[in-house]
Amino acid sequence: MLEISNRTRTLGTENAFVVLGEVEKLCAEGRDIVNFCIGEPDFGTPESVKEAVIEAIKAGKTRYTPSPGMMELREAVAEYFSESRGIDVEPDSVVVACGGKPFIGYSILTVTDYGKGHEVIYPNPGFPIYESQIRAQGAVPVPINLREEKNYSFDIEELERKVNEKTRLLILNSPHNPTGGVLSREDLEAIADVVKRYDNLWVFSDEIYSRIIYDREFVSIASMPGMQERTIMVDGVSKSFSMGGWRIGFAANKKLAKYLARWVTNTESCAAQPSQCAALAALKGAWSDVERMVKTFKRRRDLIVDGLNSIEGVKCLKPGGAFYAWPNVTEACRLVGVKDSEEFRKRLLYEAGVAVLADIHFGKKIEGEGEHIRLSYATSDKEILEGLKRIKEFISENRVV
Ligand SMILES: Cc1ncc(COP(=O)(O)O)c(C=O)c1O
Repeated sequence: MLEISNRTRTLGTENAFVVLGEVEKLCAEGRDIVNFCIGEPDFGTPESVKEAVIEAIKAGKTRYTPSPGMMELREAVAEYFSESRGIDVEPDSVVVACGGKPFIGYSILTVTDYGKGHEVIYPNPGFPIYESQIRAQGAVPVPINLREEKNYSFDIEELERKVNEKTRLLILNSPHNPTGGVLSREDLEAIADVVKRYDNLWVFSDEIYSRIIYDREFVSIASMPGMQERTIMVDGVSKSFSMGGWRIGFAANKKLAKYLARWVTNTESCAAQPSQCAALAALKGAWSDVERMVKTFKRRRDLIVDGLNSIEGVKCLKPGGAFYAWPNVTEACRLVGVKDSEEFRKRLLYEAGVAVLADIHFGKKIEGEGEHIRLSYATSDKEILEGLKRIKEFISENRVV
């Protein structure tokens, strides 16, 4: 029999795409759905970037580039990382790829060996690709539970208990998908203190939402004393510049850059040159677009969080970054008589016409944490208000207690 490998059969996925499939099907049937599933800004590519790319294409920038990326772009990324993180990043330490996502797999491949029991610590709830890639690369996934009572920051004691001589990589993600939680300078200092006790422990710092942050400063663990050399810092243009479809992300680490670039050579060869030109134009001249988007996101965050908190059975902390709300719906589930957030999500979709994701799409449930759903507010004020109205009506019309 022609067989599929275990590695592939058990490969995880992003359930957002599965739910999006359900939403598309309902829309095709003529249903009117308010969609809170999308993890992508709704603003479109900045105009100045579009124009620069058209010129670049006309000038013949449609060829292969070196695997780590065009030198001009690596220089611009190094400058961006250096200025925004307050550290000195050299262009040679930078690698460009098709999004921030490929660096998750490349980094795990670069610092762990298959089947050797090397452990990787990652946040739970969290971006589902972390766990999926850790397993696929033959490392051991070790979740760190992020709890509501701690505002979804790290529990240092849990980190101390879970890290050991076999831990090769610690994955951080701040601002965080799905909770919107942000690690403070104090949190990062405490994490760095634990990490530095181990000689062979790298950090993968997923900073893809670094520019989408409200009321506080963004801090990278790479800027903590002694941490830059062991941190793989990752950012990109998908979220900050609303350029997800261009597929450009970048990583920086002096020692690992040449190995990450070799993974690029073995997979993508290089990121598409027109897209690299787009990222360069964004970094060089689209920061006012970013500012405008973040202002809008902040207003929407307040709109959605206040709206959610006014619904009986729903409690929502104010996220410090990204564009996700992560309300606790334990009481709402009880009120409408559903067993968990996934059943709640399905009923919201099919009965109320509101698409959200459930906590099980972001990792294993944590005992005592209750039920949560994720709403992306990368959508218009009008849609937000309509979605909130539908959720409120759904709960009040379907009460069983
Ligand atoms: C936490 C996190 N990391 C990485 C990515 C991937 O971003 P990119 O589009 O740059 O591959 C996402 C996208 O949703 C994300 O939420």
